Amino acid sequence: MSTLVTGGTGTLGQPTVEALRKTGTEVRVLSRKPGPRRVTGNLSTGEGLADALAGVDTVLHLATTRRKDSGQTRVLLDALAASLVSHLIFISIVGVDQIPYFYYRDKTVSERMIEASGIPFTTLRATQFHDFVADLFRMQRRLPTLFALDIEVQPIAVEEVANRLVELAGATPAGRVADIGGPEQLAMRELAEIWQEAQGTTKKIRTLRIPGKTIAAFKAGHHLTAVPGYGTETFAEYAQREAAQ
Ligand SMILES: NC(=O)c1ccc[n+]([C@@H]2O[C@H](COP(=O)([O-])OP(=O)(O)OC[C@H]3O[C@@H](n4cnc5c(N)ncnc54)[C@H](OP(=O)(O)O)[C@@H]3O)[C@@H](O)[C@H]2O)c1
Repeated sequence: MSTLVTGGTGTLGQPTVEALRKTGTEVRVLSRKPGPRRVTGNLSTGEGLADALAGVDTVLHLATTRRKDSGQTRVLLDALAASLVSHLIFISIVGVDQIPYFYYRDKTVSERMIEASGIPFTTLRATQFHDFVADLFRMQRRLPTLFALDIEVQPIAVEEVANRLVELAGATPAGRVADIGGPEQLAMRELAEIWQEAQGTTKKIRTLRIPGKTIAAFKAGHHLTAVPGYGTETFAEYAQREAAQ
């Protein structure tokens, strides 16, 4: 039997596929684009899913549009109902049911659909990835100043999230498991300073104060877990690693 990874070409998917293969697991990567060791399929339309799921007993559902994903989760669950899959592992985000951000609300819809599906599942919620925080700074590279939201974040290395997913894939379905997060909670401003130090830039950092319920929920820390968290790599170590590449 094989394991299918949706989103296996993505930021989290790539290290997850690599870590799964190291355990000797036969892995199929679902992608809209053909490529070596991939199966072609589309979670928006359901195209290719039946073939992709033939001979599969475990699915890691990591795909995202970074907008609304619950429609894709529905399509996947319908395809799983006609398959031999006995374990669905889903990646979610810490605090999705507490923070009224549209992407998080929709992630909660996916979580609930999976819970109600009758398919044995494991859901893991993780905090923001180091890559996600770094992308917020990379997007601003042409700006004269660096903007940082007035919130704290607990970023984690995707490789560490990947390792936890592999551990869960090798165990029996456990429902919602303990949330995981990075080793430290830092203000976005501090993360911006760390990023600049690693990149060798010295732009002025401006703190962005945005009103509203979504930011208030982030400020209340609903997206954080206890520290020190599951992850051990700090954002500074990640930033140095990135700068050295
Ligand atoms: N970013 C964070 O800080 C964070 C924190 C906690 C949890 N998460 C969760 O982690 C998961 C992975 O995030 P990521 O940043 O690794 O995502 P990503 O890099 O944006 O990758 C998205 C993946 O989704 C696949 N995909 C998108 N639409 C598809 C479709 N219609 N059919 C099939 N595949 C489709 C893409 O595959 P192809 O392009 O190859 O088709 C790609 O592999 C998401 O569920 C996210 O919510 C993220």
